[in-house]
Amino acid sequence: MKIVCLLGSPRTDGNSAAIAKRFCETAEKLGSEVQTFALNKLTYKGCQACKGCRTESDRCILKDDLIEVLEAVRETDVLVLATPIYFGEITSQLKGFIDRTYSYIGADHKPRLVPGKKLVFIQTQGDRDENHFADIFPGYQSAFEWIGFKESYLIRACGVMEKGEAEKQESVMKLAETTAHSVIA
Ligand SMILES: Cc1cc2nc3c(=O)[nH]c(=O)nc-3n(C[C@H](O)[C@H](O)[C@H](O)COP(=O)(O)O)c2cc1C
Repeated sequence: MKIVCLLGSPRTDGNSAAIAKRFCETAEKLGSEVQTFALNKLTYKGCQACKGCRTESDRCILKDDLIEVLEAVRETDVLVLATPIYFGEITSQLKGFIDRTYSYIGADHKPRLVPGKKLVFIQTQGDRDENHFADIFPGYQSAFEWIGFKESYLIRACGVMEKGEAEKQESVMKLAETTAHSVIA
């Protein structure tokens, strides 16, 4: 199985990245091929609403570092999105990518992606209260369902502020492993 993992945090050795790493390493042991992009290291814009992906091409027409990512996601079986919560939302780095997935939808409002892809959403937050920011995943889950990701999974760590704190939550790291098994099965 092909897996594309997008790290939305500028901390590529932080909490969300650590959970993503555990998921990806487990998936690799099960025979998957993983390609990881640290979004913060790339230079790109958010969607410009130019509609070029509807009028000129079946791809996003912006020419920047995100083109390789958008192509990789097109070909993948599994997409991993890892993000911390910043001011109650996903990071701007990840949001910039998500807005560009507008190019995966045709002028007929139908998805251009092959159906059957799976989404793994990894969310970390300093706040210990799991009721806070519980609405983030369902929102993106339904958006991604529309573009062809019918099956989705959430791995979430609450109360993790400093680097290394997610690894100390054994239940979360275990969930990363069991989710990899469920996704690959
Ligand atoms: C700019 C910024 C904004 C943040 N906003 C929130 C927030 O609104 N709620 C929260 O619970 N944690 C917030 N945090 C804490 C991070 O979500 C937390 O440290 C997370 O574990 C970082 O994940 P990472 O190590 O993958 O970067 C914020 C951190 C930063 C740097």
